[in-house]
Amino acid sequence: MSNATPIGNENPIGVFDSGIGGLSVLRHICQTLPHESLLYFADSGFAPYGGKPEEVIVARTLAIAEFLLKQHAKALVVACNTATAASIAAVRARYPELPVVGVEPGLKPAAAVTKSKVVGVLATERTLASNKFNSLRQQLSAATQVTFLPQACVGLADQVEKGELQTPATIALLQRYVTPLLQEGADTLVLGCTHYPFVQSTIEQIIEQTSGGPVTIIDTGEAVTRQLARLLQQHALQCEGNQAGTLRAFTTGEAPALSSAFVTLLNLHPEVQKAPV
Ligand code: DGL
Repeated sequence: MSNATPIGNENPIGVFDSGIGGLSVLRHICQTLPHESLLYFADSGFAPYGGKPEEVIVARTLAIAEFLLKQHAKALVVACNTATAASIAAVRARYPELPVVGVEPGLKPAAAVTKSKVVGVLATERTLASNKFNSLRQQLSAATQVTFLPQACVGLADQVEKGELQTPATIALLQRYVTPLLQEGADTLVLGCTHYPFVQSTIEQIIEQTSGGPVTIIDTGEAVTRQLARLLQQHALQCEGNQAGTLRAFTTGEAPALSSAFVTLLNLHPEVQKAPV
């Protein structure tokens, strides 16, 4: 690792996303691992990632990983499906000893619960075009006979970044993306972007208006947190103190915007700094 300081159990965990979407993962980490100190990095100055070329996302991910390691992170959570698909292999290759957890659309849990055998997958264009997603989709379809219907949600992460969780524009966008999936028989919807759990209740309203039966929504934030806890244990890096962990945040966007997202979405008040990368 490029970090010269020895890594210890009390060091923080670095969590990052293209913007505020990763807060939907961070909330599970805060609940499940309350003694761990956390660093949150929102790359809002470069968001959204969803329509960007792969090499841009790889370069951003490596720059952010380097920054978080300079802040003495002991582990990294890539709390972004798009960055995980594009660049987690590059992070692991550059930092082979670093515990790294990524986020992927929950196709497996969806295949396990669907009764209609039709699953809608809401994600960014980049995630849905990735080899990682398509090979998992093919493999699981062959093994389970489940049909996965990918739906790129262009513009949706932007609406969440703007704090428009329930405005008419966001409802219209979601109606356009979700209704056809329900009409094609999906009884399970995968939230394949960490921004989307913040519009889950709007999605539920659309389901209520459209669907004949119950629809399960899959969010992987909890599973990612379990995987993080397992990895920390395997590396003997879990925090041993019993005081509440600290939280610091960095953004390439506007610090006040990230502060207010923390308050509105998680009721947390971390110190937020403008990041120099
Ligand atoms: N939150 C990100 C994800 O999980 C991507 C949103 C974006 O920047 O396009 O895919």
